[in-house]
Amino acid sequence: MKILVTGGLGFIGSETVISLIENGYEVVIVDNLANSKIGVLDRIETITGVRPDFVKVDCCDKEALNQVFDAYPVSGVIHFAGLKAVGESVRIPLAYYRNNLLSTINLVEAMAAHNVYNLVFSSSATVYGDPKELPLLETTPLGETTNPYGETKKMIERILTDFNKANPQFNIALLRYFNPIGGHKSGLLGEDPTGIPNNLLPYVTQVAIGRRDKLHVYGNDYPTEDGTCIRDYIHVCDLAEGHVATIKYLEEKPGLVIFNLGTGKGTSVFGVLKAFEEATGVKIPYQIDPRRPGDVTANYANVDKAEKILHWKAKRDVKQACFDAYQFQVKNPKGIE
Ligand code: NAD
Ligand code: UD1
Repeated sequence: MKILVTGGLGFIGSETVISLIENGYEVVIVDNLANSKIGVLDRIETITGVRPDFVKVDCCDKEALNQVFDAYPVSGVIHFAGLKAVGESVRIPLAYYRNNLLSTINLVEAMAAHNVYNLVFSSSATVYGDPKELPLLETTPLGETTNPYGETKKMIERILTDFNKANPQFNIALLRYFNPIGGHKSGLLGEDPTGIPNNLLPYVTQVAIGRRDKLHVYGNDYPTEDGTCIRDYIHVCDLAEGHVATIKYLEEKPGLVIFNLGTGKGTSVFGVLKAFEEATGVKIPYQIDPRRPGDVTANYANVDKAEKILHWKAKRDVKQACFDAYQFQVKNPKGIE
């Protein structure tokens, strides 16, 4: 069976392509390389021994996308393609609304035109906003998003839900990721942001190899045990395996489903630094900065639904993810060339 993976050269997409191949699926990747390098394709081949089909296409180009469906008969789609930098989305909101919404609408229309009915969408825990109660359940009411990026996720969830009501032959999974970190155990793939990293782990690994002086910890006056924010950090390979479980589920059970993909455990920023030091032996210098606007004190998932229905559970811990992220950074000090 062949799966089309949009954004399949990105951080989460590339790991998912590997998991799909390891589970016997054929893959065709569509990516416009807006935030990824073509070298990732070689690395997927090195790791799996299989070179997936790749077409350089912008999902906002409807005609080109339709041509991909004409050329490659597929049984399902995993839609990772999207812009994801929170700060950038505040500066250029229209680019985010255009890219994330239009690519999704084009994709669903192309699927309908080609009788492809199984879709997995990359949503985010950001749709819950500032949680009133923890852990977060899939039934927890959605909250106010704090930036255009987050709003695109919430809007796409709504678009796909409305679309599914009108087109019940579609099977759609909305996967709400918590905080993906880590990399492939080979050290060949990992998070490779351009410019100054926005997210915690890539910043930490760049400090660890001396590319940056020290980490800026955004606030130590939150109402948590050590004063720093708490998140549910999930190893990207666990997340990838969650997608394979979801694709298998959609093949059997029709309808629209929502799953939290996290570990169910919260870790503070200082907790991550401790795990990083234990995993790598590297102590990360840091300074305390003011809180970052838009950050919530704590969020972590209830993951019972995914465990019960998908028979999937995160197996790797934060320490393992820190080790794998560090390995990737050490082997690729300037990222993937
Ligand atoms: P990424 O930027 O590494 O991967 C996204 C890929 O999509 C990139 O390779 C990029 O070139 C491609 N792309 C973007 N716009 C495109 C377009 N119009 N047409 C074709 N390709 C396009 O990001 P990631 O971390 O792998 O995230 C994948 C998805 O998961 C995104 O939708 C993201 O919003 C979502 N998500 C990520 C996180 C996270 O922390 N990384 C958390 C929650 C949700
Ligand atoms: C952020 C986004 C979220 C998005 C996710 C993945 C916000 C408000 N949320 O999540 O919408 O889905 O990234 O792209 O931006 N931290 C530091 N120093 C740093 C970086 C981070 O102390 O240099 C802290 C943050 O304050 C936070 C934690 O580390 O407490 C995790 O931050 P980050 O990795 O950016 O993820 P989120 O903010 O949870």
